[in-house]
Amino acid sequence: MSTSTAPALPAWVDKLRSTVTANLKENKDLISYALATHDTATPHSDAPVPRVRYVVHRGFVNERRKEGDGSSNEVKDKDGNDLISDKLVITTDARSPKARQLAATPTVEIAWWLAATQHQFRLLGRAYVLPSPSFSSPSSSAPSFPFPAEALAPTPSFNWEAERVRQFRKLSPELRASFCRPVPGSSVREWGGRLEDLPVTLPEGVDEAEGDEQKKQVEQALENFALVVIDCTEVDLVDLGSQPNTRTRWTFDTASNEWKEEELVP
Ligand SMILES: Cc1cc2nc3c(=O)[nH]c(=O)nc-3n(C[C@H](O)[C@H](O)[C@H](O)COP(=O)(O)O)c2cc1C
Repeated sequence: MSTSTAPALPAWVDKLRSTVTANLKENKDLISYALATHDTATPHSDAPVPRVRYVVHRGFVNERRKEGDGSSNEVKDKDGNDLISDKLVITTDARSPKARQLAATPTVEIAWWLAATQHQFRLLGRAYVLPSPSFSSPSSSAPSFPFPAEALAPTPSFNWEAERVRQFRKLSPELRASFCRPVPGSSVREWGGRLEDLPVTLPEGVDEAEGDEQKKQVEQALENFALVVIDCTEVDLVDLGSQPNTRTRWTFDTASNEWKEEELVP
């Protein structure tokens, strides 16, 4: 039986969750946002350059959207409150350029235009990569991924590997298979294989695989699959759907350990 009590979530989490739910009812594509990172290993510049790409929001840590979307982690506390955290989750390939960039510089900004309700969220924070426990990079300059597991967890005994596997099982069969490809962003010519020969779909896990070859492919995909957990320190919401437009900024104050909310000129 659970004895945990859900921590109070900052006000922006409720606002973001309800806005996302309203937007997804109108348009499922509004689940993606732009994620900006710093790249310090580019031949184009001595100074870090910005990199930005779209990623899919996979909820907050331990957030369940559907029945049966399970893991060994508890879903609710003894009072029936959801045991989710205020940390956003995305999924990626641990071998990807963005994973390498995050290992070197975790500072990120997200820009999310939720068009159905005319809200822009910008979230500033630090993003941490959680690879497979047995992940080893194919590159000699392998990044190591610092992951403050305890600070990011919604409960004291949170099982991060169970959360990673839960997210893998929720992906589409096509997306699961994409983690079996050669290193993302590497040259197809230098690899020498044919992308058409790679698996197109993969099942949820090793137990569901048919035959030894598919079992190996699922193991390979799970090895490359990583979570990225984003710890926000500032959230800026512009509401263009209201007249007059409004703008609210929440800032985490490390001195008081509290979120401060302020209305700004849009
Ligand atoms: C709508 C959309 C959603 C995407 N979602 C993800 C995602 O959740 N994770 C991811 O790694 N790449 C995602 N991608 C691909 C990335 O935008 C990017 O092309 C790829 O990950 C390589 O990025 P990198 O070179 O910065 O690592 C998505 C692309 C689009 C267009």
